[in-house]
Amino acid sequence: MTNLPTQELENLVDKIRDELGGAEKITDLERLRVAYVGKKGVLTQQLKRVGSLPPDQRPEFGHAVNEAKKTVEALIDERRSLLSDKSISQQLRDERIDETLPGRGSRIGGLHPLSRTMNRLIDIFGKMGFDVADGPEIEDDFHNFEALNIPPNHPARAMHDTFYVAESTLLRTHTSPVQIRYMRDHKPPIRVIAPGRVYRCDSDQTHTPMFHQIEGLAVDENISFADLKGVLITFLRAFFETHLNVRLRPSYFPFTEPSAEVDISCVFCSGKGCRVCKRTGWLEVLGCGMVHPQVFRNVDIDAERYTGFAFGLGVERLTMLRYGVDDLRLFFENDLSFLRQF
Ligand code: FA5
Ligand code: MG
Repeated sequence: MTNLPTQELENLVDKIRDELGGAEKITDLERLRVAYVGKKGVLTQQLKRVGSLPPDQRPEFGHAVNEAKKTVEALIDERRSLLSDKSISQQLRDERIDETLPGRGSRIGGLHPLSRTMNRLIDIFGKMGFDVADGPEIEDDFHNFEALNIPPNHPARAMHDTFYVAESTLLRTHTSPVQIRYMRDHKPPIRVIAPGRVYRCDSDQTHTPMFHQIEGLAVDENISFADLKGVLITFLRAFFETHLNVRLRPSYFPFTEPSAEVDISCVFCSGKGCRVCKRTGWLEVLGCGMVHPQVFRNVDIDAERYTGFAFGLGVERLTMLRYGVDDLRLFFENDLSFLRQF
């Protein structure tokens, strides 16, 4: 009779042991823990019976309940570590790496078509004996305009759609300021190109606000317009590797006299006239001319003794023509399906 509550307790622990043995998941185990040894669990509740027992049995029963709780908790811990070991080995089995599967391969990037054109141009001019120079993209009014014989209020400034950074600081509108910087530091004979970015507030199918130019400059005794023409024709043949119609059209630049612009027959319509060439059949690729004596005076080169030619070519335009790209803006959209074609 006095044994009864303790006996019940033992039976309960046996029952719990069986149930724990059947728990296959950590969540099942947690449910059982709450049900038996949680705050309101069956075993915890047994403590309430203490008060209804005769006083001499109370300590013994209380002790038995606590022991039973400890036993159950230990069983739960044991089962939990067994289950988690099991799930780790299961995971290891499931996630085994199959080293016999073929690899995914890695894609190799390529040079942007503009970089390729730049490199080609530098290479071709290099073979003709031109050194490479560079200058800052943020320029001052003096180098970009004034020293190039474009004083303030000169109408040529309007052609340039300049981005100003401050009062007389600007994003260079062409690579020609490098001519000035170079001639201040080097004296003839000079044969140099200056590739780089230039900026103009301009945007359509054949114009972008940022584009690339390559400036060319040759200064020595007896340099003539024939030398300029020879260099340009040689370069265009080497660059396009095919016969293209080229024309020199008289033009005007304040820093060259005489001046010309060079057009190439439009490759998109073979000169018939289309959207790309604005129905003219020609695409302008560069401006050029004989260095103006005033420019020589601005950089302290003897204009009586020396002559020279200069040119500035549009790298995007040449790239368009060579690869048959009919919209210059595509070069700056970073669309991989476009870029992968090169
Ligand atoms: C100049 O910039 C002169 N500095 C060129 C020069 C240099 C003349 C040395 C004489 C001596 P122009 O503004 O025409 O000239 O531009 C030269 C070339 O840059 C053009 O023929 C064209 O191919 C290209 N270009 C001009 N504007 C743009 C633009 N917004 N986007 C792409 N290409 C352009
Ligand atoms: Mg022009």
